[in-house]
Amino acid sequence: MPIELINRVSASLRPNDHPYMNGAWTPTHEEFNATDLEVIGEIPRDIDGVYVRNTENPVHDPIGRYHPFDGDGLIHVMSFRDGKAEYRNRFVRTKGFQAEQEAGRALWAGLAENPAKSERPGWGAHGGIKDSSSTDVVVHAGQILSTFYQCGEGYRLDPYTLEQHGTESWTPIDGVSAHTKVDEATGELLFFNYSTHAPYMHYGVVGADNRLKHYIPVPLPGPRLPHDMAFTENFAILCDFPLFWDPELLEKNMHVVRYRRDLRSRFAIVPRYGQPEEIRWFEADPTFVLHFLNAYEEGDEVVLDGYFEEDPEPKSSNSAPPGYERMIRPKLHRWRFNLTTGQTREERLDDRILEFGIINNQFGGRKYRYAYSAINEPGWFLFNGMMKHDLETRESWAVSFGDERFGSEAGFAPRVGGVDEDDGYLVTFVTDMKADRSECVVYDARDLAVGPVCRIILPHRISSGTHATWAQGEAIRAAQASR
Ligand SMILES: [Fe+2]
Repeated sequence: MPIELINRVSASLRPNDHPYMNGAWTPTHEEFNATDLEVIGEIPRDIDGVYVRNTENPVHDPIGRYHPFDGDGLIHVMSFRDGKAEYRNRFVRTKGFQAEQEAGRALWAGLAENPAKSERPGWGAHGGIKDSSSTDVVVHAGQILSTFYQCGEGYRLDPYTLEQHGTESWTPIDGVSAHTKVDEATGELLFFNYSTHAPYMHYGVVGADNRLKHYIPVPLPGPRLPHDMAFTENFAILCDFPLFWDPELLEKNMHVVRYRRDLRSRFAIVPRYGQPEEIRWFEADPTFVLHFLNAYEEGDEVVLDGYFEEDPEPKSSNSAPPGYERMIRPKLHRWRFNLTTGQTREERLDDRILEFGIINNQFGGRKYRYAYSAINEPGWFLFNGMMKHDLETRESWAVSFGDERFGSEAGFAPRVGGVDEDDGYLVTFVTDMKADRSECVVYDARDLAVGPVCRIILPHRISSGTHATWAQGEAIRAAQASR
């Protein structure tokens, strides 16, 4: 059957006026398998793999205030091969999702609420909220790994069928944060977690065989709220930013984020299989970085690119949508850590507001040239276009998704047989508010200006989401064959 409605989950969410449960963020509760979809243009024959996107997609009426990061993890996949594409979507069957399906209502309060309102113990660094596995997604060892920003258990799904394989067995007691990193050159997965008890952070490496091969403490001065990490060929980069839960209020189980202008940012550079005593700390200007782009080694330096937030001070709820208040002015930025002198140099790469950048993952941890950032709708957690940067010539090119069309974090699909770094396609899901539908849109990464190569119409309108990834079909098939 070309379009098959597989399931409609049991939902108790009623109509409301929350900005992140309406408009382009309107959740969906249907699960589809779909082939032979309407295509505008032609699906390239030299694209082979999966574009996978996670979504915070609420199912039940929230207990009190809703925060846009609270929704249940809903994975959408568009898989490509031989000029054909197949769409599937499934909720991640987390322990919390299953319990709330049975109860028919929300059992956990969200990030913006008092955790005492949760009816059951929660997960992660916060401890009072549900691990919804809704933040990030990668493909490692031939399987999807979906993760939660507050350090959840990590859930595995098949990248083509979305068959659910449950929680990841190597997940440590303190969980795994969002933004695990797959090194495509070695097949390893690098990860970190954080918690409110000493040593407050750990770092680990999982092999291409999906076995935990390294796990060390990264002692911090107190509980922190790191969101992302980076890696090079030989090092992992972890961070300690001066933005974290007020320690005194945390003692009373109150989670109030404060920005400490008097403190510096600190970056830990640790050999990939290094021990705690080998960690080197570098200081830099105070900020809070939500997302890094890439890192690499050059001479004596470790070079790190990411989005420097110029204004990390949390604002009142009137000045920014909830959840977006610490992402007002992120700008593409480069840090250079000199391993010989211990000095840090910083450089702004672009003065425009950008975030949610991606690269050709084959260049992860290696010297690279091209970055693709999301352009946000001012004041909203919505993406209205993409910006490509040539970091060598410092040229940039922007493309808009169109009027009232909102995209997702893209995935870079290297062209089969391609050699050059930008020889491939940018794939994203776009929700068109005027047409009241969603599409998978594919651009030629070398020439965004010509517009989409093809647009594949989805069987339903999907909510905006956050993180996405691309994984090459050849790598998935090889990993699955070796299991
Ligand atoms: Fe993130």
